[in-house]
Amino acid sequence: MKVPLLDLTRQYKSIKEDINFNLNNVLCSQSFILGKEVDELERKIAEYCGTEYAIGVASGTDALLLSLRALEIGNGDFVVTTPFTFFSTAGVIHNVGATPVFIDIRKDTYNIEPERFQELLDGKSFHHQRFSIDNSRIKAIIPVHLYGQIANMDAIMDIAREYSIAVVEDAAQAIGSEYKRKRAGSIGNLGCFSFFPTKNLGGFGDGGIITTKDKMLEEKLRKLRVHGGGMGYYHSMIGFNSRLDTIQAAVLLAKLPHLDDWNNKRDKNAVSYSERLKNITGIETPTECDNRKHIYHQYTIRIKNGKRDSLQKFLKEKNIGTKVYYPLPLHLQECFSNLGYKRGDFPVSEEAANMVLSLPIFPELTLDEIDYTCESIREFMSL
Ligand SMILES: Cc1ncc(COP(=O)(O)O)c(C=O)c1O
Repeated sequence: MKVPLLDLTRQYKSIKEDINFNLNNVLCSQSFILGKEVDELERKIAEYCGTEYAIGVASGTDALLLSLRALEIGNGDFVVTTPFTFFSTAGVIHNVGATPVFIDIRKDTYNIEPERFQELLDGKSFHHQRFSIDNSRIKAIIPVHLYGQIANMDAIMDIAREYSIAVVEDAAQAIGSEYKRKRAGSIGNLGCFSFFPTKNLGGFGDGGIITTKDKMLEEKLRKLRVHGGGMGYYHSMIGFNSRLDTIQAAVLLAKLPHLDDWNNKRDKNAVSYSERLKNITGIETPTECDNRKHIYHQYTIRIKNGKRDSLQKFLKEKNIGTKVYYPLPLHLQECFSNLGYKRGDFPVSEEAANMVLSLPIFPELTLDEIDYTCESIREFMSL
């Protein structure tokens, strides 16, 4: 048997007619830039997420970048985030001219630990001794809803409110996930989503969207994505070329009605995995927090006793695809060495990087494939 980490052809086959129909409409209209499909998708995503507005952009990375620019964050400012995330969460902070400030995560959810945020602002963490951080220049925090489960947003929002810090949710992996019945992207000032093809709602190329309830931010973002211009060739600010392609919107419109069903199938797969893996010594299954709906963008297990890499190799030999998200936390990346962090600064993130392994979890995965994967894991762990 062969179990791919992700097989998008199975999804495409199931909705091929709808996607091809929508694509054909765009081809006939030849309206490739900000066509009517983009408007329709923006309306539907805003409604789906429970926000007022949604602004389509060229990628999840640009969603974060434009959000920081809309908040007027730049040189001399600090933005707090997690070191255990995809690179672009911190890359965009650098790219607007600000400095990323990393704080550690929780072991159970891999999301930012709000206590570390409070310690940072109270001057009780190592940051203030090592770096000169002025609290008044901490302008935003980017909690990442990693693997599809929302961070502890009540605690993060309370602290952020007290210090007038903006909250930009990196919900790239979390479309449809819920926290106390609120959807990802509807809790912070801004929510950033990615439509990268592998995401739970993926396009046929790059794409992203920003959600917000704030009219002023919405207006700014609409300008920022078209070079900072409004009408014609008059520019009140310097922006970007960052629009969601009409073709991507057409694909996403065909997929959106299926998203909840796909997310539920991922959840069902997660239950099947956890039932089969929970009694294997040396394996820890993911933690689902109360009052949250996990959408299992990834089903990520922890492997103890330094066996992660050899398990991954064993599964590869058994034709089972797996991946490590992420092998090196961002504070240890070469490109961020100038920030002055060192190994040991974020022990929870560093430990996670050595232990995590994501298994195939896509909605069309069969029970036979889950059985085969779990039996293979059991076989290796009992060697
Ligand atoms: C947590 C996180 N943030 C940001 C991004 C960036 O999204 P994109 O690849 O669409 O630029 C991704 C996706 O790859 C992600 O997983």
